[in-house]
Amino acid sequence: MSAHPREKRKPMTLPRLAEMKLNAEPIVMVTAYDHPSAEVAEFAGVDIVLVGDSAAMTVLGHDSTVPVGMEEMLMLAAAVRRGLKTPLLVVDLPSGSYERSNEQAIENAHRFVKEAGCDAVKLERGGASVDRARAIIRAGIPVMGHLGLTPQTATALGGFRAQAKTGSGAVELAEDALALQAVGCFAIVFEAIPAGVTETLMPKMSTSAVIGIGAGPGTDGQVLVFHDLLGIFGGHAPKFVKRYSSLRKEMVRGVGEYAREVRERAFPAAEHSYAIEPEELEAFRRYLDQESLAASFGGDWSATEI
Ligand code: KIV
Repeated sequence: MSAHPREKRKPMTLPRLAEMKLNAEPIVMVTAYDHPSAEVAEFAGVDIVLVGDSAAMTVLGHDSTVPVGMEEMLMLAAAVRRGLKTPLLVVDLPSGSYERSNEQAIENAHRFVKEAGCDAVKLERGGASVDRARAIIRAGIPVMGHLGLTPQTATALGGFRAQAKTGSGAVELAEDALALQAVGCFAIVFEAIPAGVTETLMPKMSTSAVIGIGAGPGTDGQVLVFHDLLGIFGGHAPKFVKRYSSLRKEMVRGVGEYAREVRERAFPAAEHSYAIEPEELEAFRRYLDQESLAASFGGDWSATEI
């Protein structure tokens, strides 16, 4: 059994994830992009946190995941690291950071481990990415694959749409999944593929944990984007998203209420203000009335503690 969130949990490890797969314990993964969202994931007791390149869309306002780069992802990953103790921390190698060569892939994977404290990296697609995954794993860094709808190459796939909906598409996905498994990926994300394809393929997925997002209930675990599941993201939500909260509505309500109270001078109230001893205030008044009296304070005005 997975530890209850309130029990003292041990840091997640790859052997523990393998054990969860073996015992058919569902693996819970969620994205996070900053310190508060990492703390939420920590307290909620999830198993894996992904600093997804979906950050490009959810927090940076782009309309695809392609524009986000290494430096932005490093900054986000380091902030998430500071908010986590127990979940495994995985980060997306962003588009353009691993495709050129195995050397480029290894160098950037190392940056995430050394500079941001990540435990593992994720990369998208099969084909040449299998070779990149093998090289990174040989360099000592665990790798998670990502197949099906791979947002970094959504244009080539015909847009953000379900994949492997034909027999030949399913065969291609299976070959990529088995190749990623063979080079040692500890997990693979299956995104937006028919549930029947997942179920048919799962018996062959013996060592890589399969984490689904829009891949049906037959996987070893599930992942959702933090801003989607909490209803923070205002953009289009794919069919596979379930909203567990409507935080955007609540945030707009809160900020709107604040704006109204400021305009009506209802905020700040006395309890949000600092007090000063009457004699100190009186001294201040005297100073303003007659500046020459300022010398009698003998203190430093600018150093007053707040
Ligand atoms: O970037 C991301 O958030 C992802 C998840 C959807 C798996 O890759």
